[in-house]
This record gives sequence, structure tokens and C-alpha cells, in this order.
Amino acid sequence: MADPADIPPPPTAAPPAGDAPPACLADFAALARAVLPPDTWDFVDGGSGAETTLAANRAALDRVAVLPRVLTGVESPRTGARLLGREQAMPVAVAPMAYQRLLHPDGEPALAAAAGAAGVPYVLSTLSSTPIEEVAAATGGPLWFQLYWLRDRGLVADLLDRATAAGCAALMVTVDVPVLGRRLRDVRNGFALPPHVTAANLPRGRDDLAHAGTPGVSAIAAHTGAVFAPALRWSDLEWLRARTPLPLLVKGILDPRDAVRAVGAGVDAVVVSNHGGRQLDGAPATATVLPEVVAAVDGRAEVLLDSGVRGGGDVLRALALGATGVLLGRPLLWALAAGGRAGATTALALLAAELRDALTLSGCADPDEARQLRTLTGG
Ligand SMILES: Cc1cc2nc3c(=O)[nH]c(=O)nc-3n(C[C@H](O)[C@H](O)[C@H](O)COP(=O)(O)O)c2cc1C
Repeated sequence: MADPADIPPPPTAAPPAGDAPPACLADFAALARAVLPPDTWDFVDGGSGAETTLAANRAALDRVAVLPRVLTGVESPRTGARLLGREQAMPVAVAPMAYQRLLHPDGEPALAAAAGAAGVPYVLSTLSSTPIEEVAAATGGPLWFQLYWLRDRGLVADLLDRATAAGCAALMVTVDVPVLGRRLRDVRNGFALPPHVTAANLPRGRDDLAHAGTPGVSAIAAHTGAVFAPALRWSDLEWLRARTPLPLLVKGILDPRDAVRAVGAGVDAVVVSNHGGRQLDGAPATATVLPEVVAAVDGRAEVLLDSGVRGGGDVLRALALGATGVLLGRPLLWALAAGGRAGATTALALLAAELRDALTLSGCADPDEARQLRTLTGG
């Protein structure tokens, strides 16, 4: 086993709030909550409906027990892994998350720069509060673009062209938002974007509804309802496949039959996601359905998992269940809120250290070997 002294400590650029620096990603939650307006905290933290799926994501990951291998002679495992055929520092990408200037004035460029320095891809949301081109200039690492399908197909084509021209290395289309899930915290808070946070990739004025605060209404839901295309079909995915030569990921798959269909449509990767419990409440936890999706895809595409990943131990669990890698979501928003780029850098360094430890403790030389580990569910 590696001597802990060999594992570089996270950078000392710790988030400003709190007495002790965070010891794990979950520690950033309290720091973020202390600095964010309560309705912004709720927008990030909340799920849809009774938040059953939100809770199930964590509970299902906690139930996955990984059987460590021993006497494997592993001292310093490699955390590096290939995603979409390209070597990354970890089998991890930053999940697409809207409106990051809500969390910190530096917003998307800060998180993208931290991801680039950590050697992991940053996925830029269609609903970014910074234009694609500015984020592309800020990140020193791979940038992927997440597409929400808009009613205006001309705008979809324009976003694709801008993402390609800005050097995005992959396209991730999100398919689980025909309408925004009923996020009751946002409804009760009458949540709306403050004036300084805009949907910066859309033409001016196309986000007016997201700023219109009305008691008992989520302005975010009103805006997406007006702007997003509600009834995508497989033929739309096929159109997209033909429209772009970039590697294509489809995000929001839970049913193995849909995973098979997506592979048939030519996608390079399937993201098993329930949107962090923010869309269909009552949808299964992603860790529960992952093994079936992996079996159905049968190596014909990569399979990523998100929703509930909170540390290196969860990355190991996902790998052992057969995933190629994971998307990391809310913890990076907490870290951004707590300390801007430095906070996100600390969080990603902690994740790398945790993953190294988890690989060492399970006797694996690298993430590929972790995919051979056996799991038990039920603890
Ligand atoms: C504040 C917030 C904004 C999000 N915005 C988007 C988005 O613009 N596009 C998208 O595909 N998913 C979006 N997601 C979902 C994430 O990509 C990811 O699926 C989810 O956060 C994973 O759950 P976790 O954060 O609990 O790990 C968002 C999630 C949060 C918390």
C-alpha cells in the first residue's frame, strides 16, 4: 500500500470560509450553504417532487459494497483513464450545470480552468452564464458541449457550429428534460435568476422569462418550458449524429432498451443519469440500473454514470459496477461557491487523492483493473 506521505496533499488554496480546510467533498456543502442566498442553495440542492429519487441516488451508492483484492503488489496506482478514447487524469468529467455565476462571480471560466488544470473534461451547459467562446479561452483542458434541444432548430444548429468552432471535443445531448421536473423548492421560493446571471449562449432577451420572479412559480421552469423542444424523437438523435462529426454522448438514459437504441443510433457514450433527482421523481437510482445498462451496451459504447457521486470511493463503486467513468455534479458547485477556482481546484485534488486511495485499498493498479472488481449490494 502507498505510504500516505507519497500522496500529494490537496493545494493549500482552501476555500475561505470555515476553520478547517475541507477533508472531503461533502465538507464543501456547509461552506457553500453559508455563503449562498437560501433560494440559490435550494436551486442547487433540490430535487423534483418529494425528492425520492434524489435520496435514492445516495442510498443506492451506499449499498454498493466493493470486494477488495489483496496481495496484488500495488503501491502507487494510476488514476488516469481513457474517456472517449482520450487519456484523462481521472475517469471523471465535470457534469454540465447551468448558470454557474449564481454560485460565484467567476462562474464557468473558474470551474473550467480548475477542471483543465486537474486534467479532466469540463462539460459546458447550453444554459451557461458565460458564452462558449469565453469558457473555451479559460480552460486549458478538454471542453465538451452539452446541448439542450431548443424549439428553434436554427438556434440548435448555431450552438453546434459555435461549439465546434470554439474547439469543443465532444457533444453531450441531454434527453431527460422534455419539461423541467417539478422542483418544489424553486416553486415555493418563486426562484428567478438575478439580473447579472443570464443564459449567455442564447440571443439577448431569450432568457427574459428566467428573470421574471412570480410568487409560486419557478422562473427557471417557465423559461425552459418556453424555450426547450418538448417532444424529441430518435430521429432527432439520428439527425444530430449525422450533423456533427464530434464524439456524441447521450445523457439521461436509465432503461437498458434506450441504451441499446442509442448505441444503434451511433452514439459513442451513454450517460446513465436521472439528472441528480431533478427530473422524474420516482425514477430509479443510477447505481441500481447501471449494471443492466452496461450489460445491454456490451462494450459497444462507453457508459458513464452520474447522480450522487460524492468522492473517490463512489468512482470506485461505479467502475466496479462496469462504468467507464463518472460525471461529478453538485460537489463542484459547492466548491465553486466556497472558493471560486481555488475551491474547485481543492475539490478536484481531494477527489484524485481519494481515488488513488480507493484503488490502492482495493488492490487495483488503475481504473481498468477496478472494472474487474466484484460488488455486493446490500452492504
Ligand atoms: C444546479 C444544477 C444545474 C444543472 N444544469 C444542468 C444542465 O444545464 N444540463 C444538464 O444536462 N444537466 C444539468 N444538471 C444535472 C447534472 O448534469 C447532473 O446530472 C447532476 O448534477 C448529477 O447529480 P449530482 O449533482 O447529485 O451528482 C444540473 C444539476 C444541477 C445541480
